[in-house]
Amino acid sequence: MSKATNIVWHESEVTKQNRQQLKKQKSAVLWFTGLSGSGKSTITVALEKALYEQNVHTYRLDGDNVRHGLNQNLGFSPEDRTENIRRIGEVAKLMVDAGILTLTAFISPYEADRNQVRELLDEDEFIEVYVKASLAACENRDPKGLYKKARAGEIKGFTGIDAPYEEPSSPTITLDTDVLSVPEAVQTVITYLKDKGYF
Ligand code: ADX
Repeated sequence: MSKATNIVWHESEVTKQNRQQLKKQKSAVLWFTGLSGSGKSTITVALEKALYEQNVHTYRLDGDNVRHGLNQNLGFSPEDRTENIRRIGEVAKLMVDAGILTLTAFISPYEADRNQVRELLDEDEFIEVYVKASLAACENRDPKGLYKKARAGEIKGFTGIDAPYEEPSSPTITLDTDVLSVPEAVQTVITYLKDKGYF
């Protein structure tokens, strides 16, 4: 809900298309969603590097990082998670407008929140990437020791334990990290982007 009144949109003379042409690419958001420990951060870091090496202009927005700054006033209640995703959606839209291929790595557990972001963008500008891994695998990896804490009751409302994760009903790409290696996951996304002419 907007609180601001008396505001008027001011158009630029340089357009999103101009910026994309300058960068020789199409901009979009690669929206990675999945459980904590599913591999979102690892894959987006590796993908960012691979794209950089192919001269693609990217930017990566990551849950743990963004929560240090822009979203440091948000916790993990359903309302705060929704606001977290809403803000990231708006930032991602600005990045797409800037002509950048934007990689986001947030659990984003609610389908409605992800769909809100989808609505902000054109159809080919929102690429939903489901980083699929069983809860057992994520818990086994437990890179930050958070599942252990959640099981011990030291963290309340942890996704997959006592807070929900709603699987995407029709993701653009599914990366099953129980099966795929990181390079294979990266290659899957790069092949998709090339096939669809993003760069
Ligand atoms: S989201 O649900 O709002 O999309 P986000 O991706 O920003 O979450 O942050 C998730 C990261 O926060 C996890 O990888 C983990 O390191 C940390 N975290 C801390 N508390 C929780 C919690 N209760 N549930 C899930 N992740 C948590």
